[in-house]
Order: sequence, then structure tokens, then C-alpha cells
Amino acid sequence: MNLKGKNVLVTGIASNRSISYAISKILHENDANVIISYQNDRLKDRVIKLKNELGICSDAYPCDLSQDSEILTLKNNVIKDHGNLDGIIHSAAFAPKELLSGKYIDNITRDGFTMAHDISSYSLTALAKAFKDNLNRSSSIITLSYIGAERVVQNYNIMGLAKASLECSVKYLADSLGEQEIRVNAISAGPIKTLAAAGISGFNKILDIYKEKSPLKKNITTDDVANVAYFLISDLSSSVTGQTIYVDNGFNVVGY
Ligand SMILES: NC(=O)c1ccc[n+]([C@@H]2O[C@H](COP(=O)([O-])OP(=O)(O)OC[C@H]3O[C@@H](n4cnc5c(N)ncnc54)[C@H](O)[C@@H]3O)[C@@H](O)[C@H]2O)c1
Repeated sequence: MNLKGKNVLVTGIASNRSISYAISKILHENDANVIISYQNDRLKDRVIKLKNELGICSDAYPCDLSQDSEILTLKNNVIKDHGNLDGIIHSAAFAPKELLSGKYIDNITRDGFTMAHDISSYSLTALAKAFKDNLNRSSSIITLSYIGAERVVQNYNIMGLAKASLECSVKYLADSLGEQEIRVNAISAGPIKTLAAAGISGFNKILDIYKEKSPLKKNITTDDVANVAYFLISDLSSSVTGQTIYVDNGFNVVGY
């Protein structure tokens, strides 16, 4: 389905392996106006290069999603340059690396707990809240989650709690925004080797387990996730909201 006329804000590009890079690519290829936002100056040159590689001509906008003032500036600049939005891709997460190994209880701290929830969960609500009056009817908001929200995954630790909070906020946001015909969904992706994933201790082992145990006996790619994001941004998903949709080759249904 062609996405011409849809303005979609995409957060979370850090490299060409980022899930949001593949999402930007498929949305742009299907004629959406993709508006890129990046975390900070450290990423600026890299993100502009990636954006140009994709053929996206419009400016890229900085925004540290842990700062309300930066979210407000992002909103003002994006709306001034592009008008109201039809979609938002929230594809950002962070927890201090030392919390992503060993037993949860041994390494958790109050600061780490707060930071992981702030950046990985609240930032979705903060974006939705900031843009809610500038989202057209039939808009779609998408975030990225992981099965560690529901089950214990070794070393995922605090990120599991933050993703559980994120998935629950998807439901409350779907309810809050439903009357405006705005949909909110999460994609729970299988493991993919990206920069964020590299921070999780023993990540290669997780990839091997998915390949062995998932019904489809393979690992997923960022393109697999992007295809579902494309569906969720398109009007084909006009009755889907408040969901966490697994893109994991079926891994989540397997018991032992
Ligand atoms: N890679 C996986 O295996 C996997 C699986 C399931 C879900 N996810 C989720 O997908 C999303 C994207 O991750 P990815 O795997 O593409 O890795 P990535 O490292 O390419 O992307 C993570 C992005 O988060 C951004 N970010 C972190 N803190 C931020 C802040 N304060 N403000 C703005 N941006 C910030 C980073 O700049 C980076 O672009 C994350 O939510 C991640 O938890 C990843």
C-alpha cells in the first residue's frame, strides 16, 4: 500500500543495522515522508550520511528523548517544517551496560532502574504526549519491545522490566488516543545484532537459541521487523491498536 502523503517521524537510527534504519528504508521506498531524529551531536554526521544514503532529503533533527525540552523543540521544528504527523516510530532504549549481565538483583541500582525506565519506556509516552495534538486521524505510533518483558532472559535484567512498562504503556496510550483514531502498537522483535544488542552480555548465545528453538528455525532480520512496521503505519492496520505483535519466527510460542 502506498504511503504517499504520510509524515512519519523515525527515532533511533544509530547505524545501518538499526531496526529504525530498515523501517525508514521501507517507508521511504513506499513514498512516506520520513523525518529522521537522532539522539545527539555524537551521532549527527553518521545519521546524516545514513539518511542521505536512503535518499531522504529533508533535515534530520536532534532529540535526546530523556529531555522534555528537547522533545518540545523537536515537535516545534518538525511541525513547522512538515506539518502534522501521521506516524511515529519509537525505536530507542538504554540501560547502563553493567546492569545487563549477571543476576538482576546483584547489579541493579536505583539510578540504573530509573534511567532504563525513563529512556526505554517513558520516552514513548513523552513523545505521544508532545505530539498528540499534531497527529492526524488514522495516525500510527509504533514502539519496539522484546520477549524479556514477559519472560526471564538471562542478562536482559532491568531492560525486561522497562520493556514490560513499555508494553503496558502501549495499552494505556492506545486507550488514551483511540478517540482521536490514533493507533499505538509494539513490535516484539526477536534478537538482532545491533549496537544496542551488543551491550547485552552473551547476546550471540541468544541468537543461537532462537535459530535452534524457533518454529521457523532461523534468526530474524531488521527487514522482517520493517515489513510489519510498514503494515502498522499503513491503513491496512486501521483496526489494530494496543497490541504487542511478535516478529520472532514464532519463538514466543515454544515451551520446553
Ligand atoms: N536488536 C534487538 O535484538 C532488539 C530486539 C527487540 C527489541 N529491540 C529494540 O529495538 C529498539 C532499537 O534498537 P536497535 O536494536 O535497532 O539498536 P540501535 O543501537 O541501532 O538503536 C538504539 C537507539 O536508541 C537511541 N537512544 C538511546 N538513548 C536515547 C536517548 N536518550 N534519546 C534518543 N535516542 C536514544 C540510540 O541513539 C540508538 O539510535 C530498542 O528499543 C531495542 O530495545 C531490539
